[in-house]
Formats: sequence, structure tokens, C-alpha cells
Amino acid sequence: MALERTLSIIKPDAVAKNVIGQIYTRFEQAGLKVVAAKMKHLSRAEAEGFYAVHRERPFFNALVEFMISGPVMIQVLEGEGAVLKNRELMGATNPKEAAPGTIRADFADSIDANAVHGSDSLENAAIEIAYFFPATDVYAR
Ligand code: PPS
Repeated sequence: MALERTLSIIKPDAVAKNVIGQIYTRFEQAGLKVVAAKMKHLSRAEAEGFYAVHRERPFFNALVEFMISGPVMIQVLEGEGAVLKNRELMGATNPKEAAPGTIRADFADSIDANAVHGSDSLENAAIEIAYFFPATDVYAR
């Protein structure tokens, strides 16, 4: 498996629950390294730009409102097969369908407030990482 980087966001609900550390522990225990990180309260324009691909979907406005409701923790994760590994750690989009032991099963309350975002492909990971981090702010480890 190749060394990859993926973008992860700990969403406002999980930040408010004070579980950033517990989620980071799951990344680390799965062999993923944090190679960039920042806490940020997204502006509406930043959230709309990040989710632009979903603009036509019925939940777009709700998703943007939620993502600007409080600060988020944004990180780049690096590791073997990082994109899929992070998606497996996250669990299904709807926490009711998420496998036991996944982040969403353990920390998310609803499909609206589902604790974490993770890039869904290597191609999108590169786009999403560049959206939040200049290359000079991502550190090889
Ligand atoms: S995914 O995770 O991209 O495969 O899932 P997808 O179903 O394509 O959803 C895209 C993002 O929209 C969020 N989402 C929703 N938000 C609010 N309400 C509803 N009903 C809803 N359905 C999906 C979902 O969490 C994805 O956001 P991110 O930040 O990528 O997890």
C-alpha cells in the first residue's frame, strides 16, 4: 500500500463534546500521523467553497450552517492507505448505520452532526488539503 495523505475535519459537534484527543488517539493507534493541524471557525464562504460539489443537494444549506456553528479541528493525516483507513475509522455517514467502534458510532448524534469529515478519494484529498493548508504548512514526519 502506498503512503498517502488525507484531509480530516473534526466537526463542531465533536469539538463541543471535547473529544478531539480521543479521536486523535484513534488516528494514531491506526498508524496515521498528524502532519498538519489547525483549529478554525469557518466563515460561510469557506464552508460553501469546501462543500461546493454538494451545492445542489437538498442538505447543502443545513450542512453549511452546521459547519459554521462552532470551531472545527482540521488536520492532514499521513500513512499507508490513509484515505481508506480514515474512512474506515470514521464509519458510515449516518451514525445509525456506522459499525460499532467507529468514530461516528461512538461520538456522532445524527447524520447532520456526524463528528468527522474525511476525504473520499486520493484525488479529492489533494484538493481538500490544498484548500486549507499551503504546502509549506504540511510537515513530513
Ligand atoms: S460522503 O461522506 O461524502 O460519502 O457522504 P455523502 O452522502 O455524499 O454526503 C456528503 C456530505 O454531506 C453530509 N450529509 C448531510 N448533511 C446534512 N444532512 C444530511 N441529510 C446529510 N447527508 C449527508 C455528509 O456528512 C457529507 O459531509 P462530510 O463533511 O463530507 O462528512
